[in-house]
Amino acid sequence: MTAEPTATPAASERLAVALGERSYEIVVGSGVLDHAGASLGALLASPRVVIVTDTTVDYLYSARLTRSLDDAGIAWRTEVLPVGEGTKDFRHLSGLCERILAGGIDRGTTLIALGGGVIGDITGFAAGILLRGLDFVQVPTTLLAQVDSSVGGKTGINTPQGKNLVGLFHQPRLVLADTTTLDTLDARQLRAGYAEVVKYGLIDDPAFFAWLEANGSALLAGDAAARRHAIVTSCASKARIVGLDEREAGVRALLNLGHTFGHALEAETGFGDALLHGEAVAAGMALAFDLSARLGLCAAADASRVRAHLIAAGLPAGFAALPRRAWDADVLLDHMTRDKKVRDGKLTFVLAFGIGKAFTARDVPAAAVVAALSDAITAA
Ligand code: NAD
Ligand code: GLY
Repeated sequence: MTAEPTATPAASERLAVALGERSYEIVVGSGVLDHAGASLGALLASPRVVIVTDTTVDYLYSARLTRSLDDAGIAWRTEVLPVGEGTKDFRHLSGLCERILAGGIDRGTTLIALGGGVIGDITGFAAGILLRGLDFVQVPTTLLAQVDSSVGGKTGINTPQGKNLVGLFHQPRLVLADTTTLDTLDARQLRAGYAEVVKYGLIDDPAFFAWLEANGSALLAGDAAARRHAIVTSCASKARIVGLDEREAGVRALLNLGHTFGHALEAETGFGDALLHGEAVAAGMALAFDLSARLGLCAAADASRVRAHLIAAGLPAGFAALPRRAWDADVLLDHMTRDKKVRDGKLTFVLAFGIGKAFTARDVPAAAVVAALSDAITAA
């Protein structure tokens, strides 16, 4: 099966994620949500969907989605989950699956994830395991979800042992990113998503990083054209990388820039509101460039430029901007050694030869990591 063209509003752009029979489109633009029913029509095995969302997004956006489904003659019902990272656990997953089953589904039913990365991850996982695999569609409503989590098919939940440790690769059939939904997102969540946008520039697109230096503040202030350009560029980058390496055997690992440090910071702060995922990624990217400079891989000026841009965007780029606690480099290293990216006990980091020149480094010396962390903690 290949991705089929879908109906979309004129003010939208379409990108392809090329994965053979699992290929699909990403539609980015204003009003995409109001055309969801028409976009979905040709894709659905049966005209029946279950919308999964959280309480906030349900209040803000369910009506726009269901109106378009009604117009297209698609039967729907809605499952509303609590807001927040705590929803991504076994208890909420099992409750969700049981309610979806109790409501009546068959293999032609499609799930729609309407919300941020939390809703996308748990809904995609539920779709992957219900009746041994249902289709699902991503309708991301946060910047983070529009540029990262809705694309690429990583789904899952957290356990007490760590984040995203249980899940599967299950690609959506379509991603519908309506940029107008970002108008209601609070500034802190918007900035957290912006960290993932910056990531694409730092990985392999120095011209995009320079564009963000010039246009990032307009994007964060609400400039619609800047937002759309950044989302389309980010999605194109992610689609290309996922198309090359769907299951993270190689190049996809570059998307983890900032994540090894970031996950350790999140683990210390309890994976919640104290430090949002995107904020942790921002601090992690600054640390990854510090470590690259310390190892003589990249110029100190590049590490400074990364830090300066993150700070200008209002993101934490050092320990001074992180929630106050007695940070300890060895404790953070301990979290990193338990990260799922560790293989054979070897620490894997995404480091950089410069802005837009990221690479995966295996077996990074623990002493250098501790030294980089200690210096950053002391500097705070
Ligand atoms: P989130 O889903 O918790 O959403 C953040 C908050 O914004 C929530 O309170 C939500 O109710 C609210 N919200 C959502 N859309 C809104 C809107 N348009 N207006 C107002 N409020 C809105 O968080 P997130 O940052 O979107 O996603 C974080 C999750 O994504 C984490 O669990 C992370 O592990 C996961 N993630 C997954 C991938 C992947 O590839 N699957 C990649 C990156 C992150
Ligand atoms: N967010 C990292 C990935 O999708 O691979």
